[in-house]
Amino acid sequence: MQYSKKVLEHFAHPHNQGVMKNPSGTGMVGNPVCGDLMKIYIKVKKDKQKGEIIEDIKFETLGCASAIATSSMITDLAKNKTLKDALKITRDDVADHLEGLPPIKMHCSNLADDALHAAIKDYEKNKK
Ligand code: FES
Repeated sequence: MQYSKKVLEHFAHPHNQGVMKNPSGTGMVGNPVCGDLMKIYIKVKKDKQKGEIIEDIKFETLGCASAIATSSMITDLAKNKTLKDALKITRDDVADHLEGLPPIKMHCSNLADDALHAAIKDYEKNKK
């Protein structure tokens, strides 16, 4: 299987990996087929002009190289974005920023996208 240089880079040195204490929201998703698990933590701050911003984000992933690379990439893409903009990040955005994923591994980027959405949903729920 041919991984891009970017995927290998993020797999070897993932960004924003680890646990976050007192997150504003967490999202955990799993893929029932491969059994991989991904958890994303977000810390949200309110900015008077921009609205709600993801000021910090971390992930923990038990999974394949693509799952780790896509987790790392989605945290880079979502950091400092408004919740509205973070929700617009698609699995294709994640894959493009990683210079592509092998077709058989595209589902791994769904996990990253779904975990981010779940974390934002959790934050919205906690707010109420
Ligand atoms: Fe399961 Fe990659 S093989 S997320």
